[in-house]
Amino acid sequence: MPPSFWQAALDKMLKRVDQTGPQLKGAFPHYAQPTGEWVTTPDGDWTGGFWPGMCWLAAKATGGARYRRWALEWAERLRPRATSDTAFRGFLFYYGAVPGALLHYDATAREIALEGARHWAKAYNPNAGCFPLGAAAEEASDVGQGEASIDTVQGAALLVWAAQTAGEPAWKNLAVFHARRHIEFCVRADGSVCQSASFDPTTGALKRRYTHKGVSHESTWARAQAWAILGYALMHQWTGEKDFLDVAQKTADWWIAHVPPNRVAYWDFDAPVTPDTEHDSSATAITAAALLKVAAAQKDEQKRKEYRAAAEATVRALGEGYLDARGVLDRGCYSKRINLATRNELIWGSYYLFEALCVLAGQLEANKL
Ligand code: GLY
Repeated sequence: MPPSFWQAALDKMLKRVDQTGPQLKGAFPHYAQPTGEWVTTPDGDWTGGFWPGMCWLAAKATGGARYRRWALEWAERLRPRATSDTAFRGFLFYYGAVPGALLHYDATAREIALEGARHWAKAYNPNAGCFPLGAAAEEASDVGQGEASIDTVQGAALLVWAAQTAGEPAWKNLAVFHARRHIEFCVRADGSVCQSASFDPTTGALKRRYTHKGVSHESTWARAQAWAILGYALMHQWTGEKDFLDVAQKTADWWIAHVPPNRVAYWDFDAPVTPDTEHDSSATAITAAALLKVAAAQKDEQKRKEYRAAAEATVRALGEGYLDARGVLDRGCYSKRINLATRNELIWGSYYLFEALCVLAGQLEANKL
């Protein structure tokens, strides 16, 4: 694969960033209509970190002052969310502000990210050894103090970064406990992943495993699998703990063994396949970015090459078949269950493809962010 393919795809996505900024008017992009017009949220819902995250990366890749200005403006708009009762503060403050601190040494971004982490750390339940989903989490039902979801493992990386940055080692321990508890909650013995679990908030006992967005409680919703690969790859990256890499590999191997030959997952691995079955480009983009991390973590040269090749083939499939001339990553499936944005551009899918392209184009180290 000539490097120019990655840079050309990155340049297309940069045009989409240029086109997105002026249309937002202070709101946060969530998903886009086929026309390219964004459906926005006023407060960032669970996705508000991904737009400033793209802008921080765009500023790093191009040096463009406008991208850095946008990144900081939207990171600042996330500040009130530091006290929202949601475990998705991990997504909001990791992507919304940590790249500003890590890549640009921006003091305000550092302070915003720490504010998010400091407040979220207070939500830890020591009886259960995890952070509950919280009453204000995005999932429309089954949220609160006794619910857990695999998509909150990524956020534990915010707390590990914050522990190092603020000199608060206890936050790292909470993050490690949270990630380990979710292996028991969500990762099946064969390496497939279940989205969610209920637990007793007093004793911590696991009560059930279930899904909010998959075909069934026993099926494998594509984003559950993707969030697990990413969450455990990130937790290994930030802590060096071997068990997290083992889980990242096991869940990545399951994905690689089960993804269709074109490398792009259907919205659920157990969805009946017909010509109309929706793919989820966003789950695939999350996985591509995560596979680059899994590759970078390998000590064995052969394994490193294999994971890297899987990552490159996945990004190539998205770049060739799902990224249009406008720089729109289409055919993400937000929620098939409620028929919400089932063939659309989703801001988080765009973020992870953009991150993966930054790595492949040589603009970002795979294990930096
Ligand atoms: N709640 C995160 C997702 O829908 O992927």
